[in-house]
Amino acid sequence: MSNEEKLALLDAREREAELGGGPERIERQHAAGKLTARERIDLLLDPGTFVETDRFVLDQHETGQKKFYGDGVVTGYGRVDGRLVYVFSQDFTVYGGSLSQAFAKKVCKIMDLAARNGAPVIGLNDSGGARIQEGVESLAGYADIFLRNVMSSGVVPQISAILGPCAGGAVYSPALTDFIFMVKDTSYMFITGPDVIKTVTHEEVTKEELGGAMTHASKSGVAHFAAEDEEHCIAMIRELLGYIPQNNLEDPPVRPTEDPEDRCEESLKTLVPDNPNKPYEMKELIRLVVDDGNFLEVHEAYATNIIVGFARLGGQSVGIVANNPASLAGTLDIDSSIKAARFVRFCDCFNIPLVTFVDVPGFLPGTDQEWRGIINHGAKLLYAFCEATVPKVTVITRKAYGGAYDVMSSKHIRGDINVAFPTAEIAVMGPDGAVNIIYRKELAEAADPVARKAELVEEYRDKFANPYKAAELGYIDAIIHPEQTRPFLIQALRTLENKRDQNPPKKHGNIPL
Ligand code: HXC
Repeated sequence: MSNEEKLALLDAREREAELGGGPERIERQHAAGKLTARERIDLLLDPGTFVETDRFVLDQHETGQKKFYGDGVVTGYGRVDGRLVYVFSQDFTVYGGSLSQAFAKKVCKIMDLAARNGAPVIGLNDSGGARIQEGVESLAGYADIFLRNVMSSGVVPQISAILGPCAGGAVYSPALTDFIFMVKDTSYMFITGPDVIKTVTHEEVTKEELGGAMTHASKSGVAHFAAEDEEHCIAMIRELLGYIPQNNLEDPPVRPTEDPEDRCEESLKTLVPDNPNKPYEMKELIRLVVDDGNFLEVHEAYATNIIVGFARLGGQSVGIVANNPASLAGTLDIDSSIKAARFVRFCDCFNIPLVTFVDVPGFLPGTDQEWRGIINHGAKLLYAFCEATVPKVTVITRKAYGGAYDVMSSKHIRGDINVAFPTAEIAVMGPDGAVNIIYRKELAEAADPVARKAELVEEYRDKFANPYKAAELGYIDAIIHPEQTRPFLIQALRTLENKRDQNPPKKHGNIPL
């Protein structure tokens, strides 16, 4: 074969590999409202930066079935905003993107390279699960990936996009990663599908209801983001990457801003209503304070009584955790504790400072919460804030009552800078509950119990429901003027840039799972 012929052979094979399962299956993929594995990579990466690995890998089994170059997954590396990322993109046009041994080896190679070179791994999932013809070899392939997911956890960021089916044990690799993105109407995740469920429990449920994007983004909390379509999903992944470092040894990227660091917001003077029982939207406060009003909310539709997400302050990437008085009065319940705990731990893994806004009347009371273990689950958030050694700045805007005061990044659990608005109420419990307990006898004997109670509540509020006792004790460092929140936070974070803190040496802690 001449050199010219050799070059032509390479070209021909490359063209064949690029077609995956072939034009007809590509058409079917498009008809289903989905992009191909390669189109997704093109959208994700900076133009012209993709370098493919293992393009010519072939299934080595002699099953008599047609073989496809790449064997159902496109792998490689490239750049997002100039920064290195590793990517694998499952190709549904080849045996439904199902995972073979060869496929798993390609994914593992990418994960090993990412861990060794300290760069994020992005998995674009669209697969019928284990390649049925391969039996246990395929299960072994999954396990090889799971192990790498765990070994890389906290070392490099791992992001999963679900862009088609993701069923059976296949869901566990995404579940082990840091963030899961889903696309409305075209992606779903479940352990067992509707048919099996019908046989076993006689429940009738559609794929979408069982494990669609909104189900997981609002009901189960499995998905952190639900996108309108694939383009939106991939744009959000790129946005998220902009807030996080390449690995656990790096700081997150700084993005300079035109938004003045000394910008004061007069409207913050009146955001917290005079009536302490009136809700307000904490997201408004967040948007008014952060750079350019940009806030990438994580778990937007799940456990809405707590808000978590990424923003920047003076160019510095921060993780924001905030109670939301507009939802369940901002109480902490099981779901919100788990949601925030996982977010705090992500930020701590990857050196992202935490800014916490507190307005919490306490843990949500009730048998449902108690019987489902709020004690254990609430302790997760406590544990996460306690063990976090990243810079921690806390602003109490209004209520900080009871155990929830301690939990929400208080001074006592290594909050670095803790401040309050003058509207803050910091006490063991709210005035109403406190008066009922302390003055039970007096109220029972009062001529006009309602009027007396109102008096006692007012007295209690003046005495305890304010930030001054906590300020006297040094539990908060300052009472700030609300309109100065942004400049205050930026300066506070600057002082913490070189913070050094660590936990005692140990194999690992035992978070109450
Ligand atoms: C081999 C598969 C496959 C699989 C799909 N295909 N899934 N081949 N192994 N797991 C093939 C189909 O035979 C078909 O090939 C092509 O991919 C496209 O599939 P369709 O069924 O035509 O597509 P669609 O109607 O869109 O349905 C997609 C699907 C369905 C919902 C994913 O194919 C399906 O239910 N597949 C099986 C899912 C499953 O039970 N997987 C095993 C889960 S257990 P042809 O050539 O006919 O077009 C598991 C264990 C992992 O994953 C454990 C880890 C611990």
